[in-house]
Amino acid sequence: MVKAVVLGAAGGIGQPLSLLLKTNPLITELSLYDIVNTPGVAADLSHIATPAKVVGYLPPDDGLKKALTGAELVVIPAGVPRKPGMTRDDLFKINAGIVRDLATGIATTAPKAFVLVISNPVNSTVPIVAEVFKQKGVFDPKKIFGVTTLDVVRASTFVSEVLGDLSLAPKVVVPVVGGHSGVTIVPLLSQSSHPLPSGFAKEELDKLINRIQFGGDEVVKAKDGAGSATLSMAYAGYEFANKIIRAVKGEKGIIAPTFVNLAADKEGGEALKKEIGSDLDYFSAPVELGPEGVVSIKSLGKITDAETALVKAAIPELKTNVEKGVSFVGASKL
Ligand SMILES: NC(=O)c1ccc[n+]([C@@H]2O[C@H](COP(=O)([O-])OP(=O)(O)OC[C@H]3O[C@@H](n4cnc5c(N)ncnc54)[C@H](O)[C@@H]3O)[C@@H](O)[C@H]2O)c1
Repeated sequence: MVKAVVLGAAGGIGQPLSLLLKTNPLITELSLYDIVNTPGVAADLSHIATPAKVVGYLPPDDGLKKALTGAELVVIPAGVPRKPGMTRDDLFKINAGIVRDLATGIATTAPKAFVLVISNPVNSTVPIVAEVFKQKGVFDPKKIFGVTTLDVVRASTFVSEVLGDLSLAPKVVVPVVGGHSGVTIVPLLSQSSHPLPSGFAKEELDKLINRIQFGGDEVVKAKDGAGSATLSMAYAGYEFANKIIRAVKGEKGIIAPTFVNLAADKEGGEALKKEIGSDLDYFSAPVELGPEGVVSIKSLGKITDAETALVKAAIPELKTNVEKGVSFVGASKL
């Protein structure tokens, strides 16, 4: 039995993500919550011939509480997306309050659920969820994740394009670490499962790194005011959610980069802090997943001097983003 919940289920990400979750035979119940339109989305999805029972909830009549009751996995894509010219941090003003309130609902009704945060700015919204859980006395850093999988998915695709063979895309694995915004996104291309062509010029490498860091802007620009990545994000969010479900079902050795509180694995977290030369509390690193969530936080391993410089460059912005999330909850009356 797995009950999955999508908060923000009627949105651009929420709908295709809910569709993908509905196709997973391991999910027996799928709750869709949003401030609008979930009855329609739920009715539509409920006709698909897969096991999950789909129910849509709206805020009246304790809808959030009903949606979350018995939840094991909660994915949060609620909030506003970027428009051209905006950074993810520009979304903080609106999304911070939305995520804080939804996190309060989860902490109260489903404190043991895995929480997968998609709403931007992820570097701040994950600390917001964690701080709410701390205030409610239910914080377990092993179960709160910032979804950075889209950066990993983009890295696989863009590397396969460089290699001139898109059929490689599903097999290309590139760890992407740091955070989820601009320069905090650090692709470790030297560890790509499929090495870049020999003689790949430095300018080409810089261009590729920049494309992975700012790939979201390509979509924002192309959508021309109609939002940011939704379909590729739904794919990526589902991929990560499915890894969690497989880990819960007992599959071993599942590793994925994700933005976590480094207390999730004391030893691994402390070693990572030494490695990056910072006392940051949050970082996206390859994490091994198990039935209780984070099993271990992995070291970055052998990286090039240029990658070390990218990690260093990510730290000041990450610190500011994390601090912003922490103090937002500190200043809130829960
Ligand atoms: N992590 C990532 O890689 C990544 C990638 C793309 C987008 N995003 C972020 O995901 C979020 C959603 O993007 P989108 O394109 O789906 O936006 P959208 O506007 O299409 O959908 C957001 C949905 O959230 C709902 N919502 C708003 N307030 C709510 C509340 N209090 N409770 C429940 N639902 C609420 C809206 O009604 C809407 O249906 C944005 O913050 C965006 O920046 C993250």
